[in-house]
Amino acid sequence: MNEINEKKEKIEQLKKEKNAIILAHYYTVDEVQDVADYIGDSYALAKTAKSCDADTIVFCGVSFMGESAKILNPEKTVLMPDLLADCPMAHMADIEKIEEMREKYDDLAVVCYINSTAELKCHSDVCVTSSNAVKIVKALPNKNIFFIPDENLGRYVAKQVPEKNFIFNDGFCHVHVSFAAADILKLKEKYPAAQVLAHPECREEILALADYIGSTSGIIDYATETGCNEFIVCTERGVEYKLKQQNPGKKFYFPGVKWFCPNMKRNSLDKIIEALSTGAGEVHVDDAVRECALKPLDRMLELAK
Ligand code: 13P
Ligand code: SF4
Repeated sequence: MNEINEKKEKIEQLKKEKNAIILAHYYTVDEVQDVADYIGDSYALAKTAKSCDADTIVFCGVSFMGESAKILNPEKTVLMPDLLADCPMAHMADIEKIEEMREKYDDLAVVCYINSTAELKCHSDVCVTSSNAVKIVKALPNKNIFFIPDENLGRYVAKQVPEKNFIFNDGFCHVHVSFAAADILKLKEKYPAAQVLAHPECREEILALADYIGSTSGIIDYATETGCNEFIVCTERGVEYKLKQQNPGKKFYFPGVKWFCPNMKRNSLDKIIEALSTGAGEVHVDDAVRECALKPLDRMLELAK
């Protein structure tokens, strides 16, 4: 048995011993996806974290994901293989600006992308993910929407909900803003039958070229279900693994250099073994923060149903 398979076997054994479940995002490395019991987009992962009956959740993702899992499940042990795996965008909004907007606008809802710290969630009215943001914003009774932290997702949602007034914040994902229209056009010239699939964290000029815009799960499901056989994919490269597994006969092209999220790649088999054997990487959320951050997360789960 090779070394990787030995590690995978060890993880299976530890999962049974600890009654643990492994949740992983599509952007983690292939071998981490292989040992996951569930792989999904942020919304599906949050829902699974809430509904699973394991004693321990090993969350292979970035901080806001592990933190949200703990907020939704205070009684469970949530472990992150690497506590330094953080999403820079999660910090790109500030409380003073939220308070300023609350003073300036009446009938305001602060809509917080789940890619945010628990503290930012505490100051928000509802959380959203890329797969449910349009539905949730439409359902809100408020006229004014302050969308934090991601400007690009905010602008994408605003286009689908023209009846509301949006105020944007200047947060961004360094991975998704790196896609360039020129690279996509070059690929389109080379593969004219290919459809462009994009994550809504991409800039407006990229989304304007897309045939389909959606979350990571949305992109994978669309590519799997549609009759088209070639795709230009504008999101983090980790999705390639599942896309190819589910669609062995289809072709996937990624524009520009290999865009990847260095934080998601911090999750590894060795760190999962360490976390499961020693309890390293336990996620703790202060009780007061947990209580207030739970409200917008629960509201998201309710409105997204
Ligand atoms: P999804 O919810 O679409 O998986 O997105 C998470 C993310 O971090 C995208 O960069
Ligand atoms: Fe954050 Fe971007 Fe990485 Fe997603 S891809 S976790 S938004 S840095």
